[in-house]
Order: sequence, then structure tokens, then C-alpha cells
Amino acid sequence: MSATLQTNFVGIHLKNPFILASAPPTVSPENIARAFEMGWGGAVIKSVQYTPRFIKQNVTPRIHAVRDKSQIIGFTNFEIGSAKTLEAWAEGILWLKQRFPENAVFASLMHTDVLKEEEWRETTRIFEQAGVDGFELNLSCSHGQAESGCGAMLGTDEEQIKKVVSWVREETTKPVIPKLTALTMDVQSKGIAAKASGADAIAAINTMSSLPGVNLKTFIPYNSVDGMSALQGLSGKAIKPIALRCVMQLASATNLPISATGGIYTWQDAAEFILLGAQTLQVCSAVMEHGYGVINKLTAGLLRYMEEMDFGTIEDFRGKALVNVTKQIDLNRDYKLYAYVNAEKCIGCGKCVTACRDNNAAGAIRIEGKSAVCINDKCEGCGLCTQICPQGCISMMKK
Ligand SMILES: Cc1cc2nc3c(=O)[nH]c(=O)nc-3n(C[C@H](O)[C@H](O)[C@H](O)COP(=O)(O)O)c2cc1C
Repeated sequence: MSATLQTNFVGIHLKNPFILASAPPTVSPENIARAFEMGWGGAVIKSVQYTPRFIKQNVTPRIHAVRDKSQIIGFTNFEIGSAKTLEAWAEGILWLKQRFPENAVFASLMHTDVLKEEEWRETTRIFEQAGVDGFELNLSCSHGQAESGCGAMLGTDEEQIKKVVSWVREETTKPVIPKLTALTMDVQSKGIAAKASGADAIAAINTMSSLPGVNLKTFIPYNSVDGMSALQGLSGKAIKPIALRCVMQLASATNLPISATGGIYTWQDAAEFILLGAQTLQVCSAVMEHGYGVINKLTAGLLRYMEEMDFGTIEDFRGKALVNVTKQIDLNRDYKLYAYVNAEKCIGCGKCVTACRDNNAAGAIRIEGKSAVCINDKCEGCGLCTQICPQGCISMMKK
């Protein structure tokens, strides 16, 4: 079956569901133009604040890579809103829309230190006139200005979400898309509050508040800015499971289209988010690490997957995994498995023996001859050995 990546997101036609997230990759209209030429479907501009008096200077350095050995598993940053003024962005959006009418450009509104209704309303009017396709509301930035009451501080408070969404809703007929934070145990109720106030879709998630590490000699947590550090927002692969969880909860609770963001590096990541309810896919860290060119593998891979699976459009598989998630309490406790070691593949390294002995009351695995063997009666079926086996030679079998 031939498939298409074209999709309709809250009334906006997109040639593909991949959108640059509000972040360094969308720092300027010129950058966004280059990304569109390379194949991105849309872009959310770097979050803009209302008045120049709130445009603070960025610190240096402001980006740190969290690594597992040499692999980058995330970035932390304390970057703040755009250094460009509202007016400069309005001109930039006008320019972008003239040059790229087929691509979607979303504004990203972020508030200043004090919650001021008129600022949200006027920013909306200015961007509406500039011809923006939709409004993302940054109710989720976890660092920097969250400390002073904006970003995630708004997005963790249902009353504030309702206020901001309704102010913007009243000023525009374009799609309003609050970007919510995972820094809450109850993201569903934040989504429901946003929907009740007129949101057309929800974006999730933003960075997670974090400290990436501490220098053991200087005692200064990374990143050090002239000898001091501060809370930073974690992005990238490290937050993908949290983003998947939020997308699933928001899709189920609100039934709104979701623009997923958090750890999308590959087409497989993209497909997983779609299966849990995402309609569009926002990317930041992968572009920070590899550049705009990642779009080629994302689109080619997702299209190939869709053709293999016989999905004609994104809608054909959006949310298909949602029915397979239930409450933990409702999982079948009569379903019993035990570990089985394939002796032909086992190299007898003993990792599973140690893991089972030190994490399982019975200690079900031992080495017999050259390979590990699991004693079925003792096996509690936790599955740990299958996950840590370097050979991938342990599987779970039905009791
Ligand atoms: C350096 C940096 C700056 C960011 N700035 C913004 C911002 O201005 N507005 C916003 O809504 N999100 C911002 N984000 C968050 C991203 O848009 C995105 O939600 C997050 O990084 C998760 O996606 P990823 O894992 O693909 O990076 C920023 C992220 C990074 C790494």
C-alpha cells in the first residue's frame, strides 16, 4: 500500500508531521527557512516574551551534554526566551509565510515575570496579524524563568492554565496549543483544564528540571557559569519515556490532537509517539546534535514503516497502542512466566546469576557446565535477567 506523511493538524495541512520544537533550531527566521528547504513540515519559533525589558542576556556556557560513556543521552540548558523582540519575530513570520506558504509556522508565547492579561492578549494580536498558523503557549519551560513564575510555574497550576488559554483563545481564531509540562503527577487534569478553556491541541512535554552532575574537584555542578550553577532543563533521549507517558495520558484524557516532544531521534521514536496518540512530532535535541538533515531519515523511515504495516496515513495508526495500556492494578496476576536460557547462545558470563542472586529471594539461575540454567520452580519471572544478558539469550516462557 502506498502511504503519505501528509497530515491535517488542527486544520493546518502539513506535508509531514515533523516540526522543529521551540528551541535553538528555531532561533531565527533564516534558520527556519533553511530547515524548511531541507524538508521540515513546520516550526515553532523560539519562545518570545512581551517587552524588551524582560529580554535578559543568556549566560555562557548554557548547554551541557549528559553522557553515558561517549553517547549523548540528553542535554541540559539554562537558555531563556528569544533574544529577538516581538516585532522582529512578527516581521520574520510574515517573511517566512510569504516564502514558504506550504509550511506551518507556530508562534511560541512565553510570559514575563508577572502574569499580565494584556500582555498575552496583545502578543496574540500581533502574531495573528503576522500570519502565524497557530499559537503554542509555553506553560512548561522548567528552568530559568520558571523560578520567577512563568513557564512550568503556570503549567502546573490549573487556574493559571485556564486564564492564559482563554485570554489567547478570545484573541484568535487560529489554533491554540498550550505546551504542558511533565513536572506534575497529574498531567491529565492540566490537559482537561486547557481543553475546557478552548485549547485545540496540546504540545507535551518541555524540558525537565535537573542538575546534570557535579565536578568532583571544584564541587561546582555542571554547567558552571563563573563558578556557580543553577537548575537546568533536561531534554533528549533521557526524557523520552516521560514524554511517552504524558502523551499517552493527555491523548486518553482529552481526546485532543497531541504534538509530541521529548527524545524523538529516530523514525521508530516517532512511530511510538504516534501509536500513543501523537499527531505531530517536535524535534529539538536530535537537531542540536546532528543538524536539520535528520529530517531525511525521519521521513523516509516513517514512510517505509507505514508502507510495511499497510497504514495509508498517520490517522490509520494514531493512538493504536492506547487500548493496550491499563491501570497497574488491573494487570493480569495469573499470567506467570519463567526465564529460559538458550544454552547454545549463552557464553557463561554469569551476569544473570549475580543479578538473580542479588535481586531475587530464591536465586533461580546458576551455571551448569558452560552455560547458565534457570530452575523454573524458583524463578519469580521478574524478567531482570533477560534485560541485562549481554548475549540476548534469555527469554520468558509461559509456566
Ligand atoms: C537549549 C534549549 C532551549 C529551549 N528553549 C525552549 C523555548 O524557548 N521554548 C519552549 O517551549 N521550549 C524550549 N525548549 C524545549 C524544546 O522545545 C523541547 O520541548 C525539549 O527540548 C524536548 O524535546 P527534545 O528531547 O527533542 O529536545 C528548549 C530546549 C533546549 C534544549
